[in-house]
Amino acid sequence: MADQEAYSPLPPWQRTAYCGTLRATDAGREVALLGWVQTRRDHGGLIFIDLRDHAGLIQLVLNPETSAAAHDAGADARSEYFVAARGKVVLRSEGTVNQELPTGQIEVMVADFEIVNPSAPPPFPIGDGDTAAEDIRLKYRYLDLRRPAMQRNLRARHQALKAIRDFLDADGFVEVETPILWKSTPEGARDYLVPSRVNPGRFYALPQSPQLLKQLLMVAGFDRYYQIARCFRDEDLRANRQPEFSQIDLEMTCPRPDDVMAVAEGMVAAAYRRVHGIEIKPPFMKMPYAEALERFGIDRPDLRFGLELKNLTAAFAGTSFKVFADLLARGQSIYGINLPAAHPLSRRELDEMTETLRARHGLGLAWVKVGDGAWQGPSAKYLGEAERARAAEVAQLQTGDTLLMVAGEARRLRPVLADIRLSLGAKFGLARSGELKFLWVVDFPLFEYSEEDRRMMSVNHPFTAPHPEDLGALDSAPLSMRALAYDMVLNGEELGGGSIRIHSRELQLKVLEVLGFNREEALDRFGFLIEALTYGAPPHGGCAFGVDRLCMMLCGTDSLRDVLAFPKTGKAVDPMSGAPSEVDARQLKELAIKVTL
Ligand code: AMO
Repeated sequence: MADQEAYSPLPPWQRTAYCGTLRATDAGREVALLGWVQTRRDHGGLIFIDLRDHAGLIQLVLNPETSAAAHDAGADARSEYFVAARGKVVLRSEGTVNQELPTGQIEVMVADFEIVNPSAPPPFPIGDGDTAAEDIRLKYRYLDLRRPAMQRNLRARHQALKAIRDFLDADGFVEVETPILWKSTPEGARDYLVPSRVNPGRFYALPQSPQLLKQLLMVAGFDRYYQIARCFRDEDLRANRQPEFSQIDLEMTCPRPDDVMAVAEGMVAAAYRRVHGIEIKPPFMKMPYAEALERFGIDRPDLRFGLELKNLTAAFAGTSFKVFADLLARGQSIYGINLPAAHPLSRRELDEMTETLRARHGLGLAWVKVGDGAWQGPSAKYLGEAERARAAEVAQLQTGDTLLMVAGEARRLRPVLADIRLSLGAKFGLARSGELKFLWVVDFPLFEYSEEDRRMMSVNHPFTAPHPEDLGALDSAPLSMRALAYDMVLNGEELGGGSIRIHSRELQLKVLEVLGFNREEALDRFGFLIEALTYGAPPHGGCAFGVDRLCMMLCGTDSLRDVLAFPKTGKAVDPMSGAPSEVDARQLKELAIKVTL
């Protein structure tokens, strides 16, 4: 055991095989194994140990008649002890074969056994069932990562990145690393700041993405760049957002949007081929942003099922239903979802949905059920014959269907209906598991007006090129302009996005002006980029893909935390190390920082 005298930094013997790789064809082989005890069972004199390493489990048999010493040592073994075993691989007798286990036809008759390092009782069992709460799993992440599912996920991530690197390398992309201690890049989140000791009062910003640096690499003549880049964004966290995440970031000289999209498709296809051995078929379909919002209420639609939004505004023009009429008079809209007869909601469920909409969004839900000839439901009696006929046509209503309707400002109600659509899809299991629905959302608007900040904002980022057909509107109607931007969406998740960039100094200054930076401010913040554009900057464009999101989809999980070795919680904390933590007063003084809590 690992007391002072017996301690050796080396294992008692070198392993000759990984537990999980042994098969019936290895019968007769002498093997030396090292691994963790999954379980130990004593059976009438025999001890059975399931020994685990990253490759899987193998059953050890400790028989006192084979080796009394090994049997005695084995009796002390407990879960998660790290042990060494040597012995002979034998075929199991017919009745004891375990079909569930790839190694289930064999076992190892142990001749030598040593406990290399004992284990405290683990805080949760190291099996595939997610029994422990996530904060415990994260606190003991090194144990959580021993679980086969986590091993599979992180190895799939490695495979995916390797396939993508190989793909991009073969396509002429050069990997260039860019600084982490740098300057703020506006990707729409708050920056993580790092104080500079040698420049007191000054701060680096950790990159939200290498956006400007990769553009400068195009000016520098690299032609095709990529990087698996770490990005940092201080934003509200969700299951698909981490404060620190990785992007497959790439940029090309002189591409058309289709060229960038083809590279991105090839890269994603390479990852699926390597990890799952399946072929996905580019080119993916394209859908304009406006159409995505109109049909699905959201710019990253899940196309695995229907339940599309139906715009009923025109159908209800001149309606006798006062609630609708009043809203329509104020220029608002009515959208609906046709819930087909095969997936009915009960009266109670409809009432609950009505209540949630009112409480959470201040919106009213009107619903009608199409009976034989008649419409039923609280609002049915207010709707006239003609408008029913028009609505039935728009929503393609058939007997037994339920039409859910919400009225209000389109901008507000579309995302609400998008959520309802997704929750109905989940409730009725409409998305077939294993199905992959890729699409590109294109023709994003260049600008949007933020009511909250009372200013124009970039929908993508300020370096995105306007659609050439819309350039004339820059002064007169900037909100009507489209961007040369594209997002790849898979099953409702935004995997990545990019754009063609502005390579003209004047146009860049003009766009920054629309965003509220006068010339002086623009030069102060982005002077290095604007200056670089004056030195024969070539046209360029690219994209960035969320590595973590892609791996999440590849692994079929719904949390980024399942594909990151050491993720942070929803509060941006690492429960294992306790980061972020307080620091020494001396450190703060050196940095000229005062905490004013
Ligand atoms: P964007 O901001 O859309 O574009 O980011 C690209 C992709 O990065 C992933 N992503 C995230 N993943 C995990 N946690 C986060 N907090 C997070 N934020 C973003 C998403 C997203 O699609 N510089 C531009 C790209 C370009 O124009 O080339 C950019 O960063 O998968």
